[in-house]
Amino acid sequence: VLVIVRDEAEEFARDAAALIVDRIRGGRIRTLGVATGSSPLPVYRALADYPLETFSELSLYALDEYVGLARSDPRSYHSVVMHEVATPLGIPATRVHVPDGTIEGLSTAGHRYEAEIASAGGIDLQILGIGTTGHIGFNEPGSALKSRTRIKTLSARTREDNARFFSSLESVPRHCVTQGIGTILDARSLVLVATGKAKSDAITAALEGPLTTMCPGSALQAHPDVTVFLDAAASVRLELLDYHRDAHLHRPDWQLL
Ligand code: GLP
Repeated sequence: VLVIVRDEAEEFARDAAALIVDRIRGGRIRTLGVATGSSPLPVYRALADYPLETFSELSLYALDEYVGLARSDPRSYHSVVMHEVATPLGIPATRVHVPDGTIEGLSTAGHRYEAEIASAGGIDLQILGIGTTGHIGFNEPGSALKSRTRIKTLSARTREDNARFFSSLESVPRHCVTQGIGTILDARSLVLVATGKAKSDAITAALEGPLTTMCPGSALQAHPDVTVFLDAAASVRLELLDYHRDAHLHRPDWQLL
């Protein structure tokens, strides 16, 4: 795991966007996995600074979706991915893939999404955030390390964290369809972004704690190509930060990884 720490999110967002665009131009990314939430938004804004032709072949795959919201609902992750990523990058809805969270499609949603990813040849680079529970996608603590896309129950903490996007805590969905940890680990490379002190415990557990289902983010330790971008606040509790800084200094070519 390569950890890049910058003072502000806008700085690492430029770095992360440069890494992604470098790989798109090199023909190494045709399928981009995108996370919702606030953390990756600066990265998406930085990507939108590049010429739109950069993304003309790119397909997007979301990590997860709420159960019970229509795709057209502005709070659905389908809408969020369209609004925050696809539209600014000039990517049409036909190349935007999101798990089916509608009640009617629920029983087959996991298998169908796995099949969509497989038929595209897998996900080349997956962007991730991390929840305060340590979740990646919506894989809450206790999620099996080899899990695939499936229905999950959201933890009380995650529903509280996401209540800001809804009119009340009561209206936050209780279930989701999320890529599994095994699905995420199948992506050829992973980029995790985290900002703010509220994420510092989850980041420390994920990067320096044991590999455990109780912190799904720790599964990243089992992947061979992970880059983590943090702002200073999210990194404050990392005890091996000197080591990480060394790793960064000794690898000035990290953009090319
Ligand atoms: C959300 C998403 C995750 C995201 C996480 C953190 O609920 N399902 O993919 O990484 O929670 O969100 P934020 O970046 O807003 O803190």
